[in-house]
Amino acid sequence: MGIIFHEESQVFQLQTKNTTYAIGIVDRGYLGHIYYGKKIEGDHIKYLLRTEENPKTPCINQREKNSFLDQFPMEYPEHGMGDYRESALCVRSEEGHLASESLYKEHWIQKGKPALEGLPASFGTEEECETLCIICEDSVLHMKVKLYYTVFYHQDVITRNVIVENQGERPFYLEKVLSASLDMDDQNFQLLSLHGSWARERHIQVVPIGYGRQNIASFRGESSHQEHPFIALVTNGTSQDFGEVYSMNFVYSGNFKAQVEKDQFDMIRMTMGIHPDGFSWKLETGEHFIAPEVVLVYSDEGLGKMTRIYHDFYRNHLIRSPYKDKKRPILINNWEATYFDFDEKKLLSIAKEAKELGIEMLVMDDGWFGKRSSDDSSLGDWVVNEEKLKGGLQPLVEQVNALGLQFGIWFEPEMISPDSNLFREHPDWAIQIPNREITQSRAQYVLDLSRKEVVDYVYEAVASILRSANIAYVKWDMNRQLTTIGSVKLPADRQGELYHRYMLGVYELQERLITEFPELLLENCSGGGARFDAGMLYYSPQIWCSDDTDAVERLLIQEGTALVYPISCIGAHVSVCPNHTVGRNTLFETRGNVALCGTFGYELDITKLTKEEKDIVKQQVADYHNYNEIIRSGDYYRLVSYSENKYYDSFMIVNKEKTKALLFDIQVLARPNRRSRKLRLKGLDEQKTYRMNGQSYTGSTLMNAGILIPAEQGDFKSRVLLFEGE
Ligand code: DGJ
Repeated sequence: MGIIFHEESQVFQLQTKNTTYAIGIVDRGYLGHIYYGKKIEGDHIKYLLRTEENPKTPCINQREKNSFLDQFPMEYPEHGMGDYRESALCVRSEEGHLASESLYKEHWIQKGKPALEGLPASFGTEEECETLCIICEDSVLHMKVKLYYTVFYHQDVITRNVIVENQGERPFYLEKVLSASLDMDDQNFQLLSLHGSWARERHIQVVPIGYGRQNIASFRGESSHQEHPFIALVTNGTSQDFGEVYSMNFVYSGNFKAQVEKDQFDMIRMTMGIHPDGFSWKLETGEHFIAPEVVLVYSDEGLGKMTRIYHDFYRNHLIRSPYKDKKRPILINNWEATYFDFDEKKLLSIAKEAKELGIEMLVMDDGWFGKRSSDDSSLGDWVVNEEKLKGGLQPLVEQVNALGLQFGIWFEPEMISPDSNLFREHPDWAIQIPNREITQSRAQYVLDLSRKEVVDYVYEAVASILRSANIAYVKWDMNRQLTTIGSVKLPADRQGELYHRYMLGVYELQERLITEFPELLLENCSGGGARFDAGMLYYSPQIWCSDDTDAVERLLIQEGTALVYPISCIGAHVSVCPNHTVGRNTLFETRGNVALCGTFGYELDITKLTKEEKDIVKQQVADYHNYNEIIRSGDYYRLVSYSENKYYDSFMIVNKEKTKALLFDIQVLARPNRRSRKLRLKGLDEQKTYRMNGQSYTGSTLMNAGILIPAEQGDFKSRVLLFEGE
């Protein structure tokens, strides 16, 4: 299907519908990266490795091996032998030496894709994908390095990951094991990344690439608000529709480093993997280490095509939840309505009003357990606070269900408050360095999830609550980043494993949860959107996108998020004004229209809304039911970006049949003395005729000539237009 090994030329050619990825074996077994880009045919491509030029390969010119290693486009570069560019693998021997040289030994190709034990990863059937494993060996360390490539032909996606095995008799230490490295000639690339902060996640940034190394990284123990495990190299002037894009997205939720390096020969090396800072992994005889997966997407038609490839790929080959193709219940969350100040009466009054307006689920957020009435206690004590919820959880859930609503609940399972019974009983369960003060954040510590007994405790605590009542939804929160990294249980030479072992613990917990409760709707969250990443999508079909619920701020956050992740997984709610984060007043309609481009729900005290606002809620609920199918499964096209022009934001979602399309248009700031705006639509069928508000237009008119959006007075105005084609 998609993978060919050309025996004679010793070239691996990985073909998707529109792209080619090629690797060649040279000399005594060096793997060279030949090409990645638009599809090419034929295997006469090895000349691209430039081995005819000087420096020749080591077998021909041993004395200049160093120069060869430092210039050759390495498929998986290793540290210590002469390639001074960023390495993907750095291994320390028991004696303390840092070097390895793994040469090609053998390979296999098989249909389908093996799962990655303990890690999130994309999946596909034998009809949908094919996997190549290239096995290289370092003869001194007796180390096997297995490079995995899975080709999803129809999706135009190639995934990569690496497994390192110790086949020798002595242990060695992985000081760095990245998941992907890509060497290319520079094409005047720019680096696109997603940066942010709390309440400002995933804003798009594009910067020139200079000589040296530029990296995007997190060593906060999570993928983070600040930087994001996604990078793209884009040719100069790349837009939504034009330009070449080489992108990498990490299917991992912990520390990462994504880097681009421009070297002395104008070559580019793009790398992605677990951040080597604070990382070290001991491999005893017979042990192996699995480095998480990177998803590679190439587009020769700008960012829009890349986006649509990621959306389809994640919807079909990463998200596993039974909800992925289903309309999610419209929920109301009490966080911004009450914060910690609620009891069962308050929750029931919200539920009652919500039901009347068509809302389908009540989610009880932080504050229902232990003695928690502020954020300074009780994490870890997952017992219902009966002072707040008289009679316990079950009667509350029953009453909510009796009103006709489903019930959801909030947890922060990875944490432990210093002021908690759990910490008083198990002070050693917190991540800590002996004799050092544990750094607090939001008055909490992090549980040491590298320990089985801690994982088991946490699981039972969460699962027993879920078993005790009819709970349909869990919001899994994580409100601090990791510090003072140390595990009381790990030996000294394995302390560097804690960050990754912690992530493995989180993944195990979530895997167990969705296995025992397969119908559970799980929403991940981390102080807003600090763990909105492809790793978490493997466990939860939706992730809370940001604590900033202001409609205007959300335009930027949701644009950056939707660059990679499907709209169906973007947690988005309508909240009250003035907005609690920025104090801005926006129209209720606009707040609804922005939240519609996500999972959709409410997060305000609905009992306090005016009659007019309640009528708008009813309309929004109707819009959700009418439009969600298109929004959840359609193709996303960005027309205009508010982050670029400062006034307007427009995008479309078009169903796969191109018979229904929604145009979202937001006038962020009104401008004086303007005529109407001409907006050219995208993604339609030129041959079809579309009706919108009683008017008919041909697809070719809408896409080439455009429609007119009237100039209006007033900021934060928005409209959603439905085009129906035949
Ligand atoms: C952070 C989340 O993002 C909020 O939505 C809320 O659940 C709080 N934590 C609760 O502490």
